[in-house]
Amino acid sequence: MVLFQRKILLAVTGGIAAYKALELLRLFKKQGADVRVVMTKSATAFVQPLAFQALSGHAVHFELLDTEAENAMGHIELARWADVFVIAPATANTLAKCAHGLADDLVSTLYLAVTCPVYFAPAMNHVMWHHGATQANLKRLQTHGINFIAPESGEQACGEIGVGRMAEPETICQRLISDLTAPQGLANLNVMITAGATREPLDPVRYLTNRSSGKMGYALASAAQQAGANVTLISGVTHIQSPKHCHFVQVETAEQMHAAVFSNLENCDIFIGTAAVVDYRPVICADEKIKKNAEHITFTLQKNPDILADVAACENAPFTVGFSAETHNLENYALEKLAKKKLNMIAANWVGRDEGGFERDENALEIFWQHGRKTLAMAKKSELAAQLIALITERFNDAKKMHG
Ligand code: C5P
Repeated sequence: MVLFQRKILLAVTGGIAAYKALELLRLFKKQGADVRVVMTKSATAFVQPLAFQALSGHAVHFELLDTEAENAMGHIELARWADVFVIAPATANTLAKCAHGLADDLVSTLYLAVTCPVYFAPAMNHVMWHHGATQANLKRLQTHGINFIAPESGEQACGEIGVGRMAEPETICQRLISDLTAPQGLANLNVMITAGATREPLDPVRYLTNRSSGKMGYALASAAQQAGANVTLISGVTHIQSPKHCHFVQVETAEQMHAAVFSNLENCDIFIGTAAVVDYRPVICADEKIKKNAEHITFTLQKNPDILADVAACENAPFTVGFSAETHNLENYALEKLAKKKLNMIAANWVGRDEGGFERDENALEIFWQHGRKTLAMAKKSELAAQLIALITERFNDAKKMHG
């Protein structure tokens, strides 16, 4: 069940190799993946959609402009849903459309709409494969950062011999497994992550908060899950879909986050505090909406509990990792927090600059621990999260060796 929990969007386009996509779907399902199938019109001439429906357990999607389909799971929902988009077989026509950004059917539109990794398994007659137009399209697609699973050489459906036969389903499935599955370095470990901003109410309609989106924390929750951990995600209010299959606790204020963390802390092996906890809360939350009569208004604020420091200070503390978002003096502040809060590691990042940080999809991190440091270069938060989880796993195992 190596691809367990993966959501694979499988696009079948119109070539004779479409029949092999049934076997591919069966292999994905055998690996525990959830698969949804989209077909081009010409693909349905080769294989009945019902066969894909029966094997996937979901209705097959064909139409871009079908009101009923868009009501249920439209192209944007499908694109958001997918962890990986596989086009197999990919015909010369679909390759050309995707290379040039045309979006005149569901498959080519999804190509533009997905943000997940994309795999093409081309299949066509060998003369078509070698044509300059196809080769130019392949080169162009490579600049979009997509992945190819090269066609094989041999006897083709047309009776000719040459390159163009779709890679075998087993080869495609193995490629996904090796690309997508992280080493299970956190198997059977309990990881708790705080994420997002807290909100500290001033009155029934207003609150103090900050710009944190929660993206980094949620990406870390997914990466830890993919490394085999049981994940508890304690989250402030965000606009992100909560990851499936984790223990998710929604909170609003710092005090609620503190309480949720401590009521779930038993048997926690690794704690990662990514939440941007609001440092001070209003002492009084007005019962009624505050009216704007006065020219000046004063609120007394009270310091919130430091969740991270409290976790690190508790008996049998888990391996504790903090974050440090800074606008200046990044290294000094990070090292100071590492020591003061008695953390095992701290990940520091710049905020308030053009690139990376709060609300962005990308980030770069400087990681510090007692006798070392590492830079993780600017990358998508999902990639950065996988790298950080790998580093945490390494340091956690080292700490365990040292302290038994
Ligand atoms: O001290 P500072 O807020 O800069 O430290 C940031 C780190 O501490 C982050 O990991 C954040 O999640 C955590 N923190 C916390 N509780 C607070 C404030 C910060 O857990 N009240």
